[in-house]
Amino acid sequence: MAAAGVPHGRDSTVGGVLRRCRELVRPALVETVGRLHPWTAEMAAYALGWSDAAGTPDPDGSEGKGVRQALAVLGAEAVGADGGAAVAGAVAVELVHTFSLLHDDIMDGDALRRQRPAVWKAYGTGPAVLAGDALHALAVQCLAGAPGPWTGEAVRRLCGTLNALVRGQAEDLRFERQPWSGPGAVGMDQYRSMAEHKTGALLGCAVALGAVLGGGSAATVAELERAGRHLGVAFQAVDDLLGIWGEPAVTGKPVHGDLRQRKKTFPVLAALAGEGPAARELAALLESPEPPDRATAARAAVLVEEAGGRAATRGEARRHLDAARRALRGPALAPDAAGELDSLFVSLLDRSR
Ligand code: IPE
Ligand code: MG
Ligand code: MG
Repeated sequence: MAAAGVPHGRDSTVGGVLRRCRELVRPALVETVGRLHPWTAEMAAYALGWSDAAGTPDPDGSEGKGVRQALAVLGAEAVGADGGAAVAGAVAVELVHTFSLLHDDIMDGDALRRQRPAVWKAYGTGPAVLAGDALHALAVQCLAGAPGPWTGEAVRRLCGTLNALVRGQAEDLRFERQPWSGPGAVGMDQYRSMAEHKTGALLGCAVALGAVLGGGSAATVAELERAGRHLGVAFQAVDDLLGIWGEPAVTGKPVHGDLRQRKKTFPVLAALAGEGPAARELAALLESPEPPDRATAARAAVLVEEAGGRAATRGEARRHLDAARRALRGPALAPDAAGELDSLFVSLLDRSR
């Protein structure tokens, strides 16, 4: 028997929701990627986890979780529309996400993504830049071609998000060159602004686009976007934790990549804000002009935890998750979709990849 409030046959587990949304969006995503030049389409299929680096379909490839497409579909359902109304938005945000990771791995010098060589490692940097550009343009084109009265509004939002994302990446990269302490050090507020732009903007956009395409009111769209933004900051805090303490076999990313790259992540900044011996040793270690080697990065990870950076980051993630969940309770949303959004939000805090 279906649980109260859940229509018969609807699987409201997080796994079930992600699967349902993936199946709804997949045909349009495949069709859209198929419009690309064959070579960029091959790189896109690799980046999406659909095929291996030889272009051979790989049913066990490393697809992402599909969080952004699910947020878009649930955003439409939350305002009482059919999830199908969100498909063009869902495709657009998945393409933007894929493009942003593709370019991000080049910027961050990360050779691994989802346990496989990053696109730039598999195909070369020039081709990877081009594939990212192709996905970026395709995302806008796909959304601009969506039928209905809300297309203009949706495209404006997506373009605003693209600008926000670039701003966040600019801050993230510039922070690498800033000192760990002293007058030019990165403050927690600057970190939050960076995280909200580089990660929060796209999660907020995903759920808002679904609501816009579903004909939601301006007030509801704004609240859903706020929920997505807070979720994004929480998501980034968890990403920062996984970047230090994640199991590489599960995250598919290199060990201590962020530390070795001198990324100003929340756990490290929070640890340095402490005043104990661990914080002081950490500051001395990080301020060395040499980039940290494997052993130094491992020691730094221990010190970050001892100085309280790990616990502070969990607290940060929790606070933003709570704010995201509160924003869901504000507007009058369809209860099934709101419940599924809420469960999805919570699951993203407990993720291991
Ligand atoms: C990725 O940021 C955000 C964007 C691509 C805009 P990170 O560099 O922190 O993410 P990972 O750890 O490589 O996935
Ligand atoms: Mg990165
Ligand atoms: Mg990055």
